[in-house]
Amino acid sequence: MHSARKDIIDHARKPLTELFAQDASRVEKFTIEQSAIRFDFSKNHIDEKLLEKFVALAGQAALEDHRESLFSGGIVNPTEGRAAEHSAERGNGNIDAVAEAKALRQRMRGLVDAIEAGAFGEIRHLLHIGIGGSALGPKLLIDALGREDAGYDVKIVSNVDAAALAEAVNGMDPKKTLIAIASKTFTTTETLMNAESAIEWLREGAVDDPHGRCIALTANPEKALEWGVDESRILPFSETVGGRYSLWCSIGFPAALGLGWAAFEELLEGAAAMDRHFKSAPMAGNAPVMSAFVDYYYVQACGSQTRGVFAYDERLRLLPDYLQQLEMESNGKSVTSEGDAVDYPTAPITWGGVGTDAQHAVFQLLHQGTHLVPVEFIIAKTPSHDFDPAHHETLLTNCFAQGAALMQGRESDDPARSYAGDRPSTTLLIEDVTPAILGALIAFYEHRTFANAVLLGTNPFDQFGVELGKEIAKSIAENGPRGYDGSTMALIEAAEF
Ligand code: F6P
Repeated sequence: MHSARKDIIDHARKPLTELFAQDASRVEKFTIEQSAIRFDFSKNHIDEKLLEKFVALAGQAALEDHRESLFSGGIVNPTEGRAAEHSAERGNGNIDAVAEAKALRQRMRGLVDAIEAGAFGEIRHLLHIGIGGSALGPKLLIDALGREDAGYDVKIVSNVDAAALAEAVNGMDPKKTLIAIASKTFTTTETLMNAESAIEWLREGAVDDPHGRCIALTANPEKALEWGVDESRILPFSETVGGRYSLWCSIGFPAALGLGWAAFEELLEGAAAMDRHFKSAPMAGNAPVMSAFVDYYYVQACGSQTRGVFAYDERLRLLPDYLQQLEMESNGKSVTSEGDAVDYPTAPITWGGVGTDAQHAVFQLLHQGTHLVPVEFIIAKTPSHDFDPAHHETLLTNCFAQGAALMQGRESDDPARSYAGDRPSTTLLIEDVTPAILGALIAFYEHRTFANAVLLGTNPFDQFGVELGKEIAKSIAENGPRGYDGSTMALIEAAEF
């Protein structure tokens, strides 16, 4: 491992209050403004010396070369021999990948226009079926941005528990519904099962040609064709766009239709601006890189096992769910990109919730528990509603109070009432939740995840860890309770299915 790593771990950590007392320009030094987002890193235990060590680590890990490779279509996913070209979807990447993404986006636009022009009759509802990366991104976008008049009633179903499907179609008129089947591979059991049941629901709703109501969003058009979607309604995307990085391509179809094409373009432009920032800003002024430094520090040097993300904005309530897949599926690894076992921890567990609700539920542990949990707050300057401004003021004051309290702590004669303090947090103060800012925010998290992987020496673009469970489920379905451990066999038998 890199020698800078040892320097970082050995760095003499000073209390946050001392760091503030010693440097009047600390906030300015450790704040980055980009894409209408103010990233305040000052309440983390980073100082100029530690930052220098991190810049050395980034050099030893060849972060700049990896970044160059990411944007130029190099093989950054070595275990699958692939590039990772999600940024090409927003115009930043290898020239051919950018051109292909653009052409496919035009194809998607053609279908959106046709739907709007009435090619499918009167359409009110879109039932989007997908799971993991084929659902979490679109769900976040619709929930965050589609709160006013989204034009269409968009429902996103992922769980194979058909209770989710039943809830989604409740109140939908089958004759006014289109179904988007989102699956990169078009082989995912949950998605195909839900799609079959949705076809059945259309049929029962007297829709003459249920398959004619289906749109496929996939990197495997042949499979979609085989399944029964006409070629004209297949919106392909490139194999080099990973599932959890795919909301920018046709997987984002529900957003393009539900929020409108202009909003979708703004989302891409916002992400493109963050791409340019990540690509060109020097390490110490680069928001995704600085975040990765902070992430690395608390896990490697301070033993943190989790990180908490709290959105002080109802529009971003699904952000922690989205980030769980992005960060944990990308960086939950035990081997390096070369296949060697790591002897250091990799990604922390990402968890979180919505402020202020979380304050009344889980913040006790953050303030007084024995775990060190670096916290991230995200809050918008502008509220999304017309109610009394006191609501938003209360939200803002509570968010800022939490960061201050975590850092300051409070001594008391009564041990149960004392707060150790010196607990780190990062605050992302955004202007508003607009398509452009959300695009930039999501791209920021993507690049931070990548920068983390480079520092860890791991591959963020494969996810073989999800395969074994799928294989065993298939085998149980096909062969019944045979050849498993006693507990699993007994459970299968006790469930009587
Ligand atoms: O099981 C994990 C996973 O492969 C994710 O990486 C992916 O986002 C999800 O399943 C869905 O896959 P697909 O889009 O191929 O249906």
